[in-house]
Amino acid sequence: MNLEQYKKAVELLNLYSYHYYVLDNPITTDEVYDKLYHEVLEYEESHEDDILAFSPTQRVGDVISDGFSKASHLSRMWSLEDVFDSEGLEKWLTKTYKLDKHITFYCEPKYDGASLNLIYENGELTQAITRGDGVEGELITQNVKTIRSVALTIAHKDKIEIRGEVVIYKDEFAKINKERLLRGEAVFANPRNASAGSLRQLDPSITASRNLVFLPYGVGENTLEHKLLSQKMEYIYSLGFKKPPIRGVCKDFTEIEAIYEVMKRDRDSYPMMLDGMVVKVDEISSQIDMGYTVKNPRFSVAYKFPAVEKITTLKKIILQVGRTGVVTPVAIVKPTNIDGVVVERATLHNFDEIDRKDIRLKDKVIILRSGDVIPKIIKVLTHERDGSEVKVQRPTTCPVCGSELLDEGVLLKCQNLTCEARVINSIIYFASKPCLNIDGLGNKIVEALFDAGVVKSVLDLFDLKSSKLLMLEGFKEKKAQNLLSAIENAKGCDYWRFINSLGIEHIGEVASKTLSARFGSGFIDAAKDEIIALEGFGEEMAESVLEFVRVNRDTILKLQNILRPLEPVQREEAKENPFKGKSVVLTGSMSESRDIIKEMLESLGAKVVSSVSKKTDFVIYGEDAGSKYDKAMSLGVVCLSEEEMRDVTKIG
Ligand code: IVH
Repeated sequence: MNLEQYKKAVELLNLYSYHYYVLDNPITTDEVYDKLYHEVLEYEESHEDDILAFSPTQRVGDVISDGFSKASHLSRMWSLEDVFDSEGLEKWLTKTYKLDKHITFYCEPKYDGASLNLIYENGELTQAITRGDGVEGELITQNVKTIRSVALTIAHKDKIEIRGEVVIYKDEFAKINKERLLRGEAVFANPRNASAGSLRQLDPSITASRNLVFLPYGVGENTLEHKLLSQKMEYIYSLGFKKPPIRGVCKDFTEIEAIYEVMKRDRDSYPMMLDGMVVKVDEISSQIDMGYTVKNPRFSVAYKFPAVEKITTLKKIILQVGRTGVVTPVAIVKPTNIDGVVVERATLHNFDEIDRKDIRLKDKVIILRSGDVIPKIIKVLTHERDGSEVKVQRPTTCPVCGSELLDEGVLLKCQNLTCEARVINSIIYFASKPCLNIDGLGNKIVEALFDAGVVKSVLDLFDLKSSKLLMLEGFKEKKAQNLLSAIENAKGCDYWRFINSLGIEHIGEVASKTLSARFGSGFIDAAKDEIIALEGFGEEMAESVLEFVRVNRDTILKLQNILRPLEPVQREEAKENPFKGKSVVLTGSMSESRDIIKEMLESLGAKVVSSVSKKTDFVIYGEDAGSKYDKAMSLGVVCLSEEEMRDVTKIG
């Protein structure tokens, strides 16, 4: 093979591949492809300088990385507003027609996968970035190059961002899970998790083995001059990308409803999972005029498919024991495929709920799965009973340590402080974000450390040695070192974090801050009436602190000695300002870390809390604000953008 022949062979291979992976219409056999591929490979081995960037051999990920760096999108990646029925669609249309009467709509499936931004410069794929927070994501170019339906080169020279969803086909998903099951590995909960997880592999050859598929749905920064989105998309497909299994331009509500009905009816027959249909204004100029709300474009909406219900059988109820000892029942049901997702567990909340619904083992039940939420049992089909169903007994002993449970009515509690489940969950909590924020110390690692007998209490974390970690599966030098330094970094934390990490019942982040601000390390000697006098505290919380300190005084002092948390600086009372004494919720991503903004508001005398209620005075939102913003709007809570908040603080 000479250079000319090599170039031709690469082009031919890419053509074969395009027909196979993009058009789903092979024009040759595997044998012919493989033979030519090997010839190309052989040529490249002896002519390294000639290797073309878009040669199919360059898709093979063989370099393992040790993490992903962050990269910015050239233009922001947005989310979509959801509607759930035709009434919702009608409302959205009325709103949209108010902005512009003369519009038509482009409709395509809403794929259930992971969104991805591809940047092409001078016709070459230069960066592939996950959505992240919409402004920046993780750079996963090497992994994405292994996806055959992502073109490495395109016949378009201007810089362009092509956006779409990476999905895993339903049959491939089933295959992967079967293999994982046989190898004794955890199965993926749904194709979306599988595709997101496969994209973020440090070893690109794992990504390559998952047969991911890229489906474009739009463009970011671009110089295209088409007047209609539908034309832009046709152009994108013509550059070598996959078309949706169904799409259409609609002129009104009736036509949108019609294509939605077809998509809903046929969704099982499509190879990928869909969770709805996306309706987008087709006219680009109208799109530009309509613009964006804080988080969504006004010119498009996700018209979701209805939540799916299925009938299954309750096989058994397992009990989970949390860090505070609360025992939670979880239903294990006969595995049921709900729209491509195999559901095996459903939440049951507590034993009162089981009594109330009279749920019995072997009962036929209706489970509902909608969107991301954990499936729930919504109904028991009592008329289907044949007498073999078994009433669920309220447990009297802890399923993990066997000690007697305290029955408080709604809640059942294991009171044994050394119960394995409680200890493990307390360590996980200790290391979690609102506590000591120890990176890399999540569920799996804590369980492994506990099972190996290396960590039996939070105190043991601070005696960990690299040599011990290296004996555990999955630990190499770097990972061990990272974990040890993350633990070391927890030293010198804010005092409230220290209090919060103790996991005192009824004492969360806000209460820990209040305790810390008032007493600092003196909190262990605080008297009951002093604690009750604190804002937001009551009898139960004060009792909880006192009881915890009484039982754990030695451990608290030992931990304090190791961690040396910083005593809080006594804050002077804030001057009068609009936030003083107000309850504030932050949502969305801000220009600075939320912790910094929180600190600033707290220094103005505001109480920053995590959930929105009628009592909330202000919600301050950044980009991509979520359900908290929606809730605040519905409750009539004053919402301020970050910028407005800053203006207000200046005035104050
Ligand atoms: S357009 C303009 N179209 O859904 C907003 N998104 O809920 C950008 N998605 O993050 C999205 N299929 O990952 C659009 N046909 C489609 C889609 C789609 C799936 C995902 C996308 C986005 C999320 C928003």
